[in-house]
Amino acid sequence: PNSHCRCAHKFCINDSPFKYYRKIGLFHSTDAEVSTRRKTFAEVQTERLEQAERTILIKCPPKINEKKLLQYLSSHGKINSHFFFENRGIHALIEFSEKNSIASLQDVIGIPSATEHHVVPFKSRLFIFTLKNPVGQAAAETPIHLSPQSHIPVKDLIQKLCGAESISSQMYTLLNEYQLTEENIKLRFLACSLVRDFARAYFPDSVVKPFGSSVNTFGKLGCDVDMFLDFHKTGKHTTKMKKGPFEMEYQMKRLPSERLATQKILSVIGDCLDNFGPGCVSVQKILNARCPLVKFSHQPTGFQCDLSVSNSIAIKSSELLYIYGCLDSRVRALVFSIRCWARIHGLTNSVPGAWITNFSLTMMIMFFLQKRSPPIIPTLDQLRELADKEDQHIIGGYDCSFVSDFSKINPTKNTETLDVLLCDFFEYFGNFDFRKNSINLRKGKEVNKPESSPLYIWNPFEQDLNISKNVNQPQLEKFVALARESAWILQKEDKTLRMVNKEPWGLAALLIPFGKSNPNKIKNRMKGIGSETIKSLLDSLKKLDS
Ligand code: GTP
Ligand code: MG
Repeated sequence: PNSHCRCAHKFCINDSPFKYYRKIGLFHSTDAEVSTRRKTFAEVQTERLEQAERTILIKCPPKINEKKLLQYLSSHGKINSHFFFENRGIHALIEFSEKNSIASLQDVIGIPSATEHHVVPFKSRLFIFTLKNPVGQAAAETPIHLSPQSHIPVKDLIQKLCGAESISSQMYTLLNEYQLTEENIKLRFLACSLVRDFARAYFPDSVVKPFGSSVNTFGKLGCDVDMFLDFHKTGKHTTKMKKGPFEMEYQMKRLPSERLATQKILSVIGDCLDNFGPGCVSVQKILNARCPLVKFSHQPTGFQCDLSVSNSIAIKSSELLYIYGCLDSRVRALVFSIRCWARIHGLTNSVPGAWITNFSLTMMIMFFLQKRSPPIIPTLDQLRELADKEDQHIIGGYDCSFVSDFSKINPTKNTETLDVLLCDFFEYFGNFDFRKNSINLRKGKEVNKPESSPLYIWNPFEQDLNISKNVNQPQLEKFVALARESAWILQKEDKTLRMVNKEPWGLAALLIPFGKSNPNKIKNRMKGIGSETIKSLLDSLKKLDS
């Protein structure tokens, strides 16, 4: 086992990729031992949502006797799993085996007295546990294990990477440090489930599901929770009724557009979270955006959340990335390394702007992997060919069908190492003809740009849209310059010499802002790139230095 591993399970960076899937929760741990069948995206989602419904979160005193807490809770029902974590105090996540254990617990739980503050009497699944006699009761306590919910600082990561044996092993180390843990995933689904409790007050059939990097296998510890309200279940009634000799439908409020309905629903749910949601703070309703959403910070779980209303195409994008992420262990290691590289060099940013988004960058990496010889992942057209009847989805007139069953996809014959792939990625995009070509994951090949956006990446499903329309020319040029510089470092720098000199090497050398080591070096290697780029590049390096 890997001695650096911070997760609660046995997990080794040199182990088979199989273990990665278990760690990120794609398998039942017990199933993983006996079955080689990987769960589909829908199966994982359903299972985790159901687990979250049986889960509670308890704020605990600083010194807590784990055994006694569990003993007390067990009197309300069997506990399936639990863990502790630190987030403005110690918290315990408790997953019961049965949902009705929570009702039994809620029956005996008190309501805070209204002497100091008035309370909103909304009964959630967030509790506070206190000791009646802190001194006496704390005496027997043994230290509890706290499950980390954030990744190690970059400087510690770089140090760790320097001790690895190859670039490939550096990349798996980074993946191991940054990826979502089983515990963090449980917490993300719990956050969704708690929001669902509010949505249900109005729409009893609604579900709140995570999408984006929380579920697409590319999420890193600390990334936001993208969640959407899904009313899909209500559709079932219609099909049922239509079978009979007559038709009946609900009387429902009619609005001139779907967008208006979305805005109204989000506005009310946003107000609810703001006014009544325990620990929901900084609630911002951004209803005029292209995709209306409510942003809020969920203090009990520590997540920044983005709530929107069912967007089937975004779910399909998450599922597609999930499939790519599960197909080959190199995919996630490459994505995590390149995303980390992009963030450190200021190519991506947590606030929206003219820079490349993580989503676009991930699509560029997928495209690169489709272009290898032999390809490491199939094109979207190939995945569509493998789709069966249940996989057929036409959304808004777009064909979003692709296979969900992993066993139908042939494993790749490509055996290239991550050392080669990382270097070639930088070389490939350092020399890509962005002026002429666009990136098309459906076909897996470059096609002429349909319009003049600096970077054109076809939306895999809405084929007339460019997912990187926001990227401007200077940002693209900065990406190209940094890709070239990185390819140069990987190809030319002497690993042994760097190791002897105790200098960061390989991936570690790429994760240090280049301006910091030698700002003149990068200038010399950028012949042929416009002066505009050099200026913006040097400006950005200056910012990183300050
Ligand atoms: P993080 O940066 O780790 O949060 O990655 P993410 O994949 O979660 O990205 P983000 O939170 O920005 O967006 C959430 C999801 O919305 C993505 O996974 C996509 O499915 C979708 N999305 C984001 N940006 C775009 C875009 O520009 N076009 C389209 N079509 N979908 C997008
Ligand atoms: Mg996200």
